[in-house]
Amino acid sequence: MTEKYLEMFRLSSRLYEDARNLFPGGVNSPVRLMRHLPYPFYVREAYGPYLVTVDGIKLIDFCMGFGPLILGHRPAPVLEAVRRQLEKGWMYGAPTELEIEYAKTIMRHFPSIEMMRIVNTGTEATMNAIRLARAYTKRKLIVKFDGCYHGAHDYVLVKAGSGAATWGVPTSAGVLEEVAKCTIVLPFNDVESVEHTFKRYGNDIACVIVEPVMGNYGLVPGEPEFIRTLRKLCDEYGSVLIFDEVITGFRVDIGGAQRLYNVRPDLTTLGKIAGGGFPIGIFGGKREIMELVTPLGPVYNAGTFNAHPVSLAAGLATIRELEKMYPYETANRAAETIAKAIIDTANDVRISVSVVQLASMFQLYFTERRIRNADDVRSSNVKMYEELHRRCLARGLYLTPSQYEVNFTSAAHDEEVVQRSVEILCECLREIARA
Ligand SMILES: Cc1ncc(COP(=O)(O)O)c(C=O)c1O
Repeated sequence: MTEKYLEMFRLSSRLYEDARNLFPGGVNSPVRLMRHLPYPFYVREAYGPYLVTVDGIKLIDFCMGFGPLILGHRPAPVLEAVRRQLEKGWMYGAPTELEIEYAKTIMRHFPSIEMMRIVNTGTEATMNAIRLARAYTKRKLIVKFDGCYHGAHDYVLVKAGSGAATWGVPTSAGVLEEVAKCTIVLPFNDVESVEHTFKRYGNDIACVIVEPVMGNYGLVPGEPEFIRTLRKLCDEYGSVLIFDEVITGFRVDIGGAQRLYNVRPDLTTLGKIAGGGFPIGIFGGKREIMELVTPLGPVYNAGTFNAHPVSLAAGLATIRELEKMYPYETANRAAETIAKAIIDTANDVRISVSVVQLASMFQLYFTERRIRNADDVRSSNVKMYEELHRRCLARGLYLTPSQYEVNFTSAAHDEEVVQRSVEILCECLREIARA
């Protein structure tokens, strides 16, 4: 299979030779170097559900930029909105009318957000939300969950998912022990361990930060009782509940996971879809907490590119499309059909596969265990996922490049694309069963 990859992506290999000397590992974000392949493919362009590589290979894309592209690549309404904004200038360093319209639109779908600050990445959003929670409560400790990824900053790089999991760095080198010691890591979906921890440390816990649907250790939905318990304990002990909805915001529902679970967090972080494929991060929530942010309060946040007009235009155009709801119907149906086809084929050829699907996200694991937490994910056979990934790629289907990421469908994954994807996936699963 690797020979086939070398043959398909020859031009990419030449680019990578250069890139290796320019960037650590040849890439600008670790999961772009797929662990099981000698080098990444290089993209020339993208449209709808497809990526086209510099080698001229067209791939059905299930990575979709790791989440932002719920309408597909290069959707016309977003392209048009960005063009219109570019013609008016793209960087003012001063407020715009657009940011007011944008914030009101976000708040209409996320009523828990009474005030917000718009930054550039999910990483910035969670870093600021945690800093704010500490300032508000005047407490030090934070609680996060094994496998949840909240970006690449020191507070949360402890037992994190995404690239940190793929590349086996559960806690990054360079993170001070003193900082890591203030982060308590608990198993996901384990009500008892959270209750126990709050009994012991509750009065020192500034915040609980959680992905209500874990989307960085594959896909692991939070169980409703678990999510409700977090709300109850935070209320009881005066801790701040932060929902990190960088992936789930506008993805699992137009009102995010908080609407799906009907649980109102104190602070929310958003990113990805909210920028329509352009860089964005948002942290927002209760007015009383948000009023601590500079220049109104003492918690410092600033950014040259904060509330960048092009990101806001792209984000707003995306949300306007989502309000029509049809993108959800198409995208969710695509994920459901594919998940079902994987389960049926795996049963047929007798390989143990657990498939998790929610809305327009899915992931499969070669394990018999039901996936409820990071330990269950770790029980799966990652080598088999990588083998499936290589085989699908050879046939023109690009699954998400790591067991610890999620496959995303979009409004551009229509019936024809789904049928072709099902054929490829099923053929590859059959081959693996025979091998
Ligand atoms: C849930 C979650 N939070 C935070 C982040 C960090 O966002 P960014 O990569 O934009 O910094 C990510 C990125 O994948 C994420 O999935």
